[in-house]
Amino acid sequence: MEATTSLLDAAAVGDLVLLDPLTEESLLHTLQERFRHSDIYTYIGNVVISVNPYQSLPIYTPEKVQEYHNCNFFAVKPHIYAIADDAYRSLRDRDRDQCILITGESGAGKTEASKLVMSYVAAVCSKGEEVDKVKEQLLQSNPVLEAFGNAKTIRNDNSSRFGKYMDVEFDFKGEPLGGVISNYLLEKSRIVRHVKGERNFHIFYQLLAGGSAQLLQQLKLHQDCRHYGYLNRESSGLPGMDDAANFRAMQDAMRVIGFSPAEVTALLEVTAVVLKLGNVQLSSSFQASGMEACSIAETQELQEICQLIGLDPSILEQALCSRTVKARDEMVRTTLSVPQGYYGRDALAKNIYSRLFDWLVNRINTSIQVKPGKQRKVMGVLDIYGFEIFQDNGFEQFIINYCNEKLQQIFILMTLKEEQEEYIREGIQWTPVEFFDNSIICNLIENSKCGILAMLDEECLRPGVVNEDTFLTKLNQLFATHKHYESKETQNAQHVMDASLPSQCFRIHHYAGKVTYNVTGFIEKNNDLLFRDLSQAMWASQHALLHSLFPEGDPQKVSLKLPPTASFQFKASVATLMKNLYSKNPNYIRCIKPNETKTAMLFTPELVLAQIRYLGLMENVRVRRAGYAFRQLYDSFLERYKMLSPRTWPRWTGSHREGTEVLLADLAFPPEELAFGHTKIFIRSPRTLFDLERRRQERVAELATLIQKIFRGWRCRTQYQLMRKSQIIISAWFRGHMEKNKYKQMKRSALIIQAYARGWKSRRLLRELKSQCHRHTAATTIAAYWRGYKARRAYRRYFRSGASTRLANFIYRRLVQKFLVGLARNLPPLLVLDRTWPPAPYKFLADANQELRSIFYRWKCKKYREQLTPQRRALLQAKLHASELFKDKKALYSISLQQPFQGEYLGLTQNPKYQKLHAVAKDKLVMADTVRKVNRANGKAVPRLLLLTTEHLVLADPKAAQPKTVLSLGDIHSISVTRFSDGFLALHLKETSTGGAKGDFLLISDHLIELVTRLHQTLMDATAQALPLHITDQYGFSTRFPKGAMAITVVESDKVGSNIPVCKKRGSNKMEVLVH
Ligand SMILES: Nc1ncnc2c1ncn2[C@@H]1O[C@H](COP(=O)(O)OP(=O)(O)O)[C@@H](O)[C@H]1O
Ligand SMILES: [Mg+2]
Repeated sequence: MEATTSLLDAAAVGDLVLLDPLTEESLLHTLQERFRHSDIYTYIGNVVISVNPYQSLPIYTPEKVQEYHNCNFFAVKPHIYAIADDAYRSLRDRDRDQCILITGESGAGKTEASKLVMSYVAAVCSKGEEVDKVKEQLLQSNPVLEAFGNAKTIRNDNSSRFGKYMDVEFDFKGEPLGGVISNYLLEKSRIVRHVKGERNFHIFYQLLAGGSAQLLQQLKLHQDCRHYGYLNRESSGLPGMDDAANFRAMQDAMRVIGFSPAEVTALLEVTAVVLKLGNVQLSSSFQASGMEACSIAETQELQEICQLIGLDPSILEQALCSRTVKARDEMVRTTLSVPQGYYGRDALAKNIYSRLFDWLVNRINTSIQVKPGKQRKVMGVLDIYGFEIFQDNGFEQFIINYCNEKLQQIFILMTLKEEQEEYIREGIQWTPVEFFDNSIICNLIENSKCGILAMLDEECLRPGVVNEDTFLTKLNQLFATHKHYESKETQNAQHVMDASLPSQCFRIHHYAGKVTYNVTGFIEKNNDLLFRDLSQAMWASQHALLHSLFPEGDPQKVSLKLPPTASFQFKASVATLMKNLYSKNPNYIRCIKPNETKTAMLFTPELVLAQIRYLGLMENVRVRRAGYAFRQLYDSFLERYKMLSPRTWPRWTGSHREGTEVLLADLAFPPEELAFGHTKIFIRSPRTLFDLERRRQERVAELATLIQKIFRGWRCRTQYQLMRKSQIIISAWFRGHMEKNKYKQMKRSALIIQAYARGWKSRRLLRELKSQCHRHTAATTIAAYWRGYKARRAYRRYFRSGASTRLANFIYRRLVQKFLVGLARNLPPLLVLDRTWPPAPYKFLADANQELRSIFYRWKCKKYREQLTPQRRALLQAKLHASELFKDKKALYSISLQQPFQGEYLGLTQNPKYQKLHAVAKDKLVMADTVRKVNRANGKAVPRLLLLTTEHLVLADPKAAQPKTVLSLGDIHSISVTRFSDGFLALHLKETSTGGAKGDFLLISDHLIELVTRLHQTLMDATAQALPLHITDQYGFSTRFPKGAMAITVVESDKVGSNIPVCKKRGSNKMEVLVH
């Protein structure tokens, strides 16, 4: 209720929409009254009007911030915080990008307002280490930019000399992430010139006042402002502005933003260079050609500059005093006149400073920028230089005012024109409100074909003589009849006498008043030319920052293309800005300046009235009054508020419009508050909307509680059910387990009992059965004996006496039969050498078995013999004979066993030498061999060939192969051999025979056994008489000689190596045969 009364208080109504009656006077009066009560903020709907109090008011305290945080816009006193809160909430909750447009004349309080908005948003959004850092960086960009971009003007001690648009970016929770700052056209002419009573940019004064002695020395600066030409050589301290403190604040701010100490130093060095450039004095001199030239009057300043930037002074001197011009493909160096020299110097200072400022903005941006890829919402805050009308207005004012014109256009478009057009489009009952549309002025300036800026560019780029006069003439021709354009010429044409409009000027009827612009300097400032020599000199410097500011100074990248003009650039950036602003939801703060003298709480009604008029506040109120504060498409409206009616919640199936109607009917708002357009619902007063929003919030809270309740219930229920189910499963398993155990126990016990019982029963049964069995066996035995006895008794008479023998014989026969059959089946192999024979199965068969074995063996031998060849048989017979003769009698026999009897050892048939001998033997040959004959006289042995035929024994000389001695077999009396393993043989002849006359022969044969055997055999065959064979021991035997008998003694010698016996004669009739 209280709020309402304060709003409706006739004298100081908070919302001008409620003003009654609505006249300019009442409006002005209301503002004045409110101002008097220190209520500097007033609404027109949701547009805030702020009247600059020029004194600090206690309405920006943290308590105030809390008061306006999440406030009801219309329930609290109008405040800039309220609109900031509204914008922030709309951004956070409705997901709409916002922009805050702050407009007003220079000094009306725009910059202050923008800072208030920023600080409010920073205060209400959430806190946290990271967020606080971002907020701090965003807020601290202000002191830095203000130091470099603000200056004292006649209208404002802290006037922004550049346009600033700052996009603050938030995440979905409304926490600031960072931002981007765009700057617009710094008024750089201020660097080199400013009118009396104004100042250059703050930074110069701050640096000189706040810099430590050491810093100033390092920068080669004097503390006194009066030393510097660019500071008008006057000390211009400002009351209420502590430059030194501000300098420290600025340095702190830089640190917060993240400037490194090296960057700060570099920045200040470049600043110092600008300041010192103003002190470089030129003096004129004349060249030999008589041409005027300029030179540096006092080189100390120049040298200091060059020391600061690390450049050879001669390069800078040359660049300042001369200029290279391209003439017919040739670079020609021309000297500059003194004014040209100063022009170049100033252009250099301006360029360095404005580029430094751009660098500064970019540097801040790198610190505050948001990493790409994050989803963000944006709140843009525009604080641009205000509308300016000075005594002498130049290019800068023209540009500044053009920008303000564009902002006004946005305001008109968004609040007056578009709104009214929308009502008509939507078919809402509407009486159009008249308003001034400034697009005609915008068009006059910016039309790309025939706007003032286009003409200016054309003049700048046109070859030939170019100066402001031709430019002005052109404008006069083009806009001779334009309503908003005036000049001396057009006035003359219309016969108007106006002393306030000099001939060098043109005047534009801006929305905010008529401004007379002096064209002097337009072309130069628009061209913004810097001699290439100067940019090259800057590029050549060792100072990294300065070097980076002049990339075009690189001689490698010389471009002959003219850089875009200042106005072209500005127009383009303003167009981008406008596009950006149009895409966002606008929130307006319209600043009003109450007096020209910056006096606290002084309200000059005429001044304010003029602003009320040109700001179009009356129209604003009218449209607002007649119109609707809020509109929204039916579908999104229904979507947002459908929970307010049970009929539309949770789902409305009909059309969106019907849904909206039903919903609003349920809420019972007064019908005049609402209007239903074709596609949108319109709500007249913000109060209704706030009411709606409040109800929605309450309902949302309720619904959230409901959802929470149901969710919690569901969660607890499912949790409970899960637990219950688990419990049942667990107990079922547990019980089952218990029962199973119990059952197992019982089963085990039952089994044990059963086992015992069964064991006991079985044992009893066994005992029973055993005793039964015993009884049964006993009974059977008794019965058997008894029956046997009975049977024997009964059959005794029939029993034969020889039955047992017969039975036994039968059994024996059976056994023998079985044995023989078995033997026949299992006869051992027929190999002669195999002596195996199955043993007898029964002892009584042992003899028979032995017999059978020998029979079988003999039979096997017979079989073997039968299959022998006659030769083999003869051989074997011979061998048999040999065994009969020598076995176990002569040691040589066992050695000879292995040697087969070959008979023919000489090869008589093959060797032709023995032809004669062969003839003697013919086919009666039994054996032919080499023997040695022992000479009985000396015991020496000589080789002889021995041939044995069936009739003769022939000895022959081996050389002649002639028979030497031929003995008839019948002549042989006997043979003597030793019992040793030698081949010694004595052939005893019959004394009576023919051969015997020579006496016995003593021979040594390698085949003694065979020889003796064959001799024996042959003799046997021939004479059927056995040949007597003496096998002697060492005692020897005697032989017969023609000279008499000789005793032969066999001596066993241990001489190793030869088995040939050695005969040694001992005495005349004794011979020793050494054998071994
Ligand atoms: N809300 C305010 N409270 C107190 N003083 C203010 C307020 N707004 C502006 N001022 C004063 O007005 C001066 C100019 O304000 P500023 O915002 O710089 O103007 P603009 O940016 O519009 O040119 C400030 O230096 C300050 O002294
Ligand atoms: Mg400002």
